[in-house]
Amino acid sequence: VEVPAVAGTTVSAAAPAPQSSINLTILYGTETGHSQGLAEKLGEKASFKGMNVQVFSLYDYNYKKLHEEDNVAIVVSTHGEGDPPDMAEDFYKYVTGPRAPQLEGVNYSVLALGDKTYKHFCKTGEEIDVALKNRGGYRITPAVKCDVDYEQPSEMWMNNFLLNLSATETPEPVASGTSSTPSGGFGEEFSKSNPYMATVLEKVRITGSDSDKEVYHVELSLEGSGLEYEPGDSLGIFTKNPEALVEDILAFTGFDPQQKVDIEEEEYSLKEALSHHLEITLLTFDLLTKYQEKTKNAELAKLLADDEALDNYLYGHDVLDLLEDYPYEWNAHKLVEVLRPIPPRLYSISSSMESVGEEVHVTVSVVRYERKNRKRNGACSSHLADSIEIDEQVPVYIDKNPSFKLPANGSKIIMVGAGTGVAPYRAFMQHRESLGIKGESWLFFGDRRFSSDFLYQTEWQKLLKNEVLTKIDVAFSRDQEEKVYVQHKLKEQQKEVFDWLENGAHLYLCGDMKYMAKDVNKALLDIIQTQGGISEEQAEKYVKNLKREKRFQTDVY
Ligand code: 2AM
Repeated sequence: VEVPAVAGTTVSAAAPAPQSSINLTILYGTETGHSQGLAEKLGEKASFKGMNVQVFSLYDYNYKKLHEEDNVAIVVSTHGEGDPPDMAEDFYKYVTGPRAPQLEGVNYSVLALGDKTYKHFCKTGEEIDVALKNRGGYRITPAVKCDVDYEQPSEMWMNNFLLNLSATETPEPVASGTSSTPSGGFGEEFSKSNPYMATVLEKVRITGSDSDKEVYHVELSLEGSGLEYEPGDSLGIFTKNPEALVEDILAFTGFDPQQKVDIEEEEYSLKEALSHHLEITLLTFDLLTKYQEKTKNAELAKLLADDEALDNYLYGHDVLDLLEDYPYEWNAHKLVEVLRPIPPRLYSISSSMESVGEEVHVTVSVVRYERKNRKRNGACSSHLADSIEIDEQVPVYIDKNPSFKLPANGSKIIMVGAGTGVAPYRAFMQHRESLGIKGESWLFFGDRRFSSDFLYQTEWQKLLKNEVLTKIDVAFSRDQEEKVYVQHKLKEQQKEVFDWLENGAHLYLCGDMKYMAKDVNKALLDIIQTQGGISEEQAEKYVKNLKREKRFQTDVY
């Protein structure tokens, strides 16, 4: 439990808490680990209040007992096309399905995580919330839906929930003398709400100059920050927007750059707001909806109703496109109101502290494209590529990912990654090499061309030589007529891949979610079906079981 002591310092304190008679079961369904982190945080807060707390992943929870619970908190995210995380699938089907139990006497509340970029924002949490209510559960605190910036709303939900829960207990006189004595740890603690200014130590382009992809290897110092990470975690980087886009928006609207606007109760000049505080390089479903509500534009309404056209528009358009394509008499205040605060960008960390000490490395692919005669740049990637030089600083924090972790022992691992999806595997290998963990490992790497896009090529060669990496298979999609992808390589080697899985291998998949991850999943099912000589349903069960045992983990974006 963190107790802020003097301004700027944080200390840990485990105060003896009065016992309470409240039983609380906290359940989480997570894909990226955020829901797990929040469930555990709620667990700590509730334990601190003396409640009798149990925290379960929805994999491990025996949901047939749900109706026997007194108090349940559910933290669950939503993915892709409104799907529950893998680990929440069975629970979700159970409570929303015909065999759902009666839940009279069960108090509950739901914290739903999601991303307003997507149409089915927080759908899973919402449906679970409604299902429990329909079955007679008592919603002790209203469900809260969080966008990618979930810190504040989740904190409020937790506090409300615990307050309402405490109120269900008949108060007992509490013995005095339970106040906490701060002890231990000095110095500032850095986090998303208090990022650390990390100095850039190294920045090198690692794709050839003839590559059409610009990928940078960036090394940052964490010296003295106290920040720690493990392989599989991500680095959050706060960024600013491309100047050209800010200027173009100001020119197009004709708004005075110096006029004052409010964002979350802070006052900024419009230019400052557009440069540093608002999302303008990307469109989200939420923005389009708000934009339509304000403008009542019939064309935009049509777009919102057509899933495929909507998908196409959300991809590769920015706020200036929106202003041009759906004109309206905006003023600066109204416009600022519909834009969302710019969230930090997450990059899978490509180093291990066991190897690099107080440094963190990331592998950044720069987003650049041209459309309608206008050059467009990804906010964070182009900022790092074009504006941040060695010795300059960027605000960062560590985003833990308990859902993408090396096995504790030297189990076999199969790592599948395309493009910068290879980043966490560099961290995995550094980790095993530094700790002398022997265990077979197999990398499947895919990118465009051997000559220019073989990221970290010499490092893999060294790792092979040292036998930290046992095998590597590569798929360079554009070196021949026919596309060759990682899943083709997996299929070529399917007998051995299946053999590894049968022998306890852990499987990792990192990279593009929309196409690559989908296709690799399909190939994997195929392999298991063929090699195992089993039906499609049995193969699906097999994969599900791998996930349940945490032997199949994904980090896709
Ligand atoms: P392509 O761009 O030549 O189609 C990293 O971006 C690598 O992933 C590239 O080689 C890219 O190939 C490839 N890729 C694109 N779509 C893919 C898919 N559906 N499955 C696997 N790899 C894919």
